[in-house]
Amino acid sequence: MTKPLRLGIAGLGTVGAGVLKIVRQKANALTQRSGRPIEVVAVSARNRDKDRGVPLTSYGWEDDPVTLATRDDVDIFVELMGGSDGPAKAATEAALKAGKDVVTANKALLAHHGQDLAALAEANGSVLRFEAAVAGGIPVIKALTEGLAGNDITRVMGVMNGTCNYILTRMEDGGLSYEEAFDEADDLGFLEADPQLDVGGIDAGHKLSLLASIAYGTQVAFDAVELEGIGQVTIEDIRQAADMGYRIKLLGVSRMTGRGLEQSMAPCLVPATSPLGQLQGGTNMVVIEGDQVGQIVMRGAGAGEGPTASAVMGDVMDIARGLRVTTFGQPASSLVAATSAKATTPAAYYMRLALLDKPGALAKVATVLGEAGVSIDRMRQYQHAADTAPVLIVTHKTTRAALDTAIGGMADTGVVSGEPVALRIEEV
Ligand code: HSE
Repeated sequence: MTKPLRLGIAGLGTVGAGVLKIVRQKANALTQRSGRPIEVVAVSARNRDKDRGVPLTSYGWEDDPVTLATRDDVDIFVELMGGSDGPAKAATEAALKAGKDVVTANKALLAHHGQDLAALAEANGSVLRFEAAVAGGIPVIKALTEGLAGNDITRVMGVMNGTCNYILTRMEDGGLSYEEAFDEADDLGFLEADPQLDVGGIDAGHKLSLLASIAYGTQVAFDAVELEGIGQVTIEDIRQAADMGYRIKLLGVSRMTGRGLEQSMAPCLVPATSPLGQLQGGTNMVVIEGDQVGQIVMRGAGAGEGPTASAVMGDVMDIARGLRVTTFGQPASSLVAATSAKATTPAAYYMRLALLDKPGALAKVATVLGEAGVSIDRMRQYQHAADTAPVLIVTHKTTRAALDTAIGGMADTGVVSGEPVALRIEEV
């Protein structure tokens, strides 16, 4: 019989338990499909005695993930611990140096150290795969590295944090404030231990930077992602956007321009009728545009036991079948250091500002916008109490720089109260 492919799994949380279940329950099918048995030989986790709904007695146990990663009887080290540094990085490096293949779900690790780890894998004849790190069960890494390899990718967009999409959806369909929707997501256990990873856009930014590397043949540049979380989005913004035919999404957008690589993860307005606008709840969506294929839309569960374990197993099965793809779709040494450009591709913007309700206030704001070269498409003042009037402005296409100049100028008019909100309207 063909030699089994032997896994060592570090990290037995939701995803690790899901992988164990798939390997146990689908043993015959996996063998049929890959041509060789897939076995888990040993595992490692913080707590050996925790009930994970799957018995661990038939597996070897290692307290130290580095020891697990370098065991002679492990062919693939499956890293499901998480964290950009610490044990996850140490064990991944140890596995690669020992010539093991590595499958990981760790977006933070790859966003910060992907270039070095990819080079280390290649130097040791290993493969390092990370399908489960981006958009959970959606096989987007495989789509980009393999199925779309004949394209020049022109834009990658995505809603890749289910928690944020859940919060924004509940604000819209339940009329909840941001704080109420956040608390609901917390009660449901959706939030990461550090909620800023979700609502600050960091988790989704990690994912976007990994997709951009594959899409444009560039070294991962997470630090260059322009990050803006969803904490400033109010129920008023959601309602006003809906009234104009838009929905607000935490949207990642990357594109290669003549000036360099643009990567932004920020709340944006998208048409309510578009696939991105229709995306509800904790679901993810990735939209890829290539010069040959046109637009591809992929939608599915971005987290959870089954979907994420499904993605891990996809990588394991590739290795079992002998498919050895480079981490970012081309040799690490050929990935170029991206010149990062602030997102300057012109777009229409939605602005909300609070104006002092007195004669000439609106005219002053319009003047500041005009002097910055920003043209107004639509403007409305809606019902208000007290002495400030909420004003909405939708601009014609403009650059973010021009808009920022206008916002800076508004502070000097003496008629704008607080900081204006400005959200890009993405054409999708
Ligand atoms: N916290 C993420 C999300 C899942 O809400 O989509 C893990 O990346």
